[in-house]
Amino acid sequence: MPAQIGIDIAIASALLRQGKLVAIPTETVYGLAANGLDLKSVLGIFEAKNRPRFDPLILHVRDIPMAKTLVNEWNDTAQTLAEAFWPGPLTLILPKSDMVPDLVTAGNSTVAIRIPSHPLTLALLQLIEFPLAAPSANPFSYVSPTTAKHVADQLIDRVDYILDGGECTIGIESTILAIEGKTARVLRLGGLSIEAIETVLGQPLLETLHQNSNPQSPGQLDHHYAPRCKLIPLYNKDEPQLSWAELLKKPLFTSGFGLLLFSKQGMGAEEEFYLTKLQVAGKTKVYILDELGDIAKAGANLFSILRLLDSDGCKEVYFFWAPEIGLGRAINDRLMRASS
Ligand code: TXA
Ligand code: MG
Repeated sequence: MPAQIGIDIAIASALLRQGKLVAIPTETVYGLAANGLDLKSVLGIFEAKNRPRFDPLILHVRDIPMAKTLVNEWNDTAQTLAEAFWPGPLTLILPKSDMVPDLVTAGNSTVAIRIPSHPLTLALLQLIEFPLAAPSANPFSYVSPTTAKHVADQLIDRVDYILDGGECTIGIESTILAIEGKTARVLRLGGLSIEAIETVLGQPLLETLHQNSNPQSPGQLDHHYAPRCKLIPLYNKDEPQLSWAELLKKPLFTSGFGLLLFSKQGMGAEEEFYLTKLQVAGKTKVYILDELGDIAKAGANLFSILRLLDSDGCKEVYFFWAPEIGLGRAINDRLMRASS
């Protein structure tokens, strides 16, 4: 029977206690949740997603005391970051305690933990006594879901309930940090900017991103978060943004291409006219992450638009990079993986 979609946390908590799967809203993306301390429940997650067992899960907790029961070491750095950013889009990697099943951590000696910031899910966490293991609620390596409908589109027959918390406000997965003494190492860029974390810690973060073999964090796999259509960058990420004049010179947009713009900033009447003409001719579909170039809004729209490219039947889409600062780095990271 297909899952019900609703906002009833009593139903959701009862199902989770029975070892069932519930899709939950968070501020980043929807998660596919189950009792994180129960082996059979956790196995259900891997099966529903077709997720390889080597890819460990994040445990979602209601508060810092619960987080501490899941780890062997909780130092000042962890405390400072948790106080500054939880509930929020930050996942901390710490040495795990014996309570955490090896399946959750894929045999690693560390565990990933966060407190998500969504009122429905926080209320749900108050009703249960265990942490929720939850990967993003999409089939493995596809784009993460940012609405209940996205979850239903792909997993309605594989979950027992979908808790509908509306659109995710941040729309990009959490930033993942491995705690290393007084500093920390970024394993995945995400919904919390590196700059914000460095300001709180008062020192630069280490970074280990994009590891393709033996990934410490399989979200680092190059080809991930990918729609079915082919995404092609219009220029190298480290070069200055392609000017509109240069774009107009490209002979690309003659038949059936998609064009994914970061914003309309700097666009003049001539370019507007040209784009409108292409669209009216029905040959090119134009998508814009945020017209005014607001990075947070662009991030919140990113995954919905990547899904739209597929549902619109686009085969090839040329795109502009986001500015390489703040959350723009996380947007570019997802665009890079989606296009690799
Ligand atoms: O925002 C998010 O983080 C969302 C919401 C639902 O919380 N969750 C999410 O989960 O993105 P998932 O499973 O799609 O990505 C979690 C990432 C994976 O790349 C996994 O490899 C990494 O976290 N991870 C989990 N445990 C780890 C560990 N012990 N060491 C290193 N990486 C770990
Ligand atoms: Mg994921």
